[in-house]
Amino acid sequence: MNPTPSKIALRGDLLDFSADPGFASPRAATGVRFRADSWLLIDDGRIAGVQAEAPGADYQRVDHRGKLVTPGFIDTHVHSPQLDVIASHGSALLEWLEAYTFPAESRFADEHVARDGAARFLDALLAHGTTAAVVFPTVHKASADTLFAAAQARGMRLVAGKCLMDRHAPDGLRDTLESSEADSRELIARWHGRDRLAYALTVRFAPTSSDAQLAMAGRLLGEVPGLYMQTHVAENEDEVRWVAQLFPDARSYLDVYERAGLLNERAVLAHGIWLDDADRARLAATGAQIAFCPSSNLFLGSGLFDWRAAAEAGVNVSMASDVGGGTSLSMLRTLADGYKVQALRGVKPSAWQLLHAATRGAARALGLAREIGSFDAGTLADLAVWDWARGPVATHRDALARDLHERVFAWLTLGDERNLVETRVAGVRRYQRH
Ligand code: GUN
Ligand code: ZN
Repeated sequence: MNPTPSKIALRGDLLDFSADPGFASPRAATGVRFRADSWLLIDDGRIAGVQAEAPGADYQRVDHRGKLVTPGFIDTHVHSPQLDVIASHGSALLEWLEAYTFPAESRFADEHVARDGAARFLDALLAHGTTAAVVFPTVHKASADTLFAAAQARGMRLVAGKCLMDRHAPDGLRDTLESSEADSRELIARWHGRDRLAYALTVRFAPTSSDAQLAMAGRLLGEVPGLYMQTHVAENEDEVRWVAQLFPDARSYLDVYERAGLLNERAVLAHGIWLDDADRARLAATGAQIAFCPSSNLFLGSGLFDWRAAAEAGVNVSMASDVGGGTSLSMLRTLADGYKVQALRGVKPSAWQLLHAATRGAARALGLAREIGSFDAGTLADLAVWDWARGPVATHRDALARDLHERVFAWLTLGDERNLVETRVAGVRRYQRH
């Protein structure tokens, strides 16, 4: 069906990372690999290498000279059904869930709604330069089924799982201990490890799961190799107080999950704003990662994530849009918001640190660095091609940049999905700007 040739050589300004730049100054540029006007060689969907000279005639040439080429972005926390409520005015987390999110998610009980929603969502990710994601669908089995099927059809790397929520949610949006285990097992058997898909036990958040459901999820996580776990933690102060009431024996919000056996190196916990040092030590010890969701944290007024404290404790941190709490699927906007949130904490992450956390850093934290996140030979050719600048203001600023960091930071701060020229998944063009 796809006439994509097996050997493709893509010309452009190639930017990726070979190591974590960390909180060092932009000048240190640790791990930064920038290869101006070079050829990225793709063979049978995988990166075969990078070279300065034009390749032989056996390669089909794709000339993106003067454009920036990055690994496809990895969004480590995003809700597929919440495109329906993105940009909903006026509430903090718990009210927002009740007023907007739960009613919207209820509609995904209908398989047609779920199928349309999954396709719209994944096409939108690709149209924002995001090629891999860790995704919450809804509580409904069909919402996960249709999402996996749509990702498979697009060849995408996707980690997802039906939401577990057996209490404190409206009718039509609750499962039971029995149905949630049966549905999860069925979905794991159908999708986990198939093509580029992996299953995540998806505990919505502690308040919407009973102790018994949390324990069931922990058992399953230990039973099936390679499963992921995704949830929310310590996002909002009212939420944290509620969790303390619901789980009086737990030392902290995070401890609710750890007691249930839910923390491992494939656990992705969104937000983590209201954690303490003991929590950070447990995250580091278990290898679980925090998905930093700056756009959502600003929009819902949740708080300012302490990235430096997390990093100093040895916690892996990746970047995430958290749409629809977040207001854009664009990882460029997400990174720009991340910079501003950190600025409010008195910290100024480099463009390198931000971009690394949305590419190689996320891939490593997910245990997927051999597949995604860089232009290392052997990884799949998931990539995005960008205009360095769009419009008179960004174009003017780009022309004045005095060094590479200045240029990349201006691109990251001023750019968005309008800068995107094309997106490829395993070498196949899946989005092209018209
Ligand atoms: N906590 C529980 N559910 C959600 C959700 O859908 N979005 C966000 N941002 N936080 C949550
Ligand atoms: Zn979320």
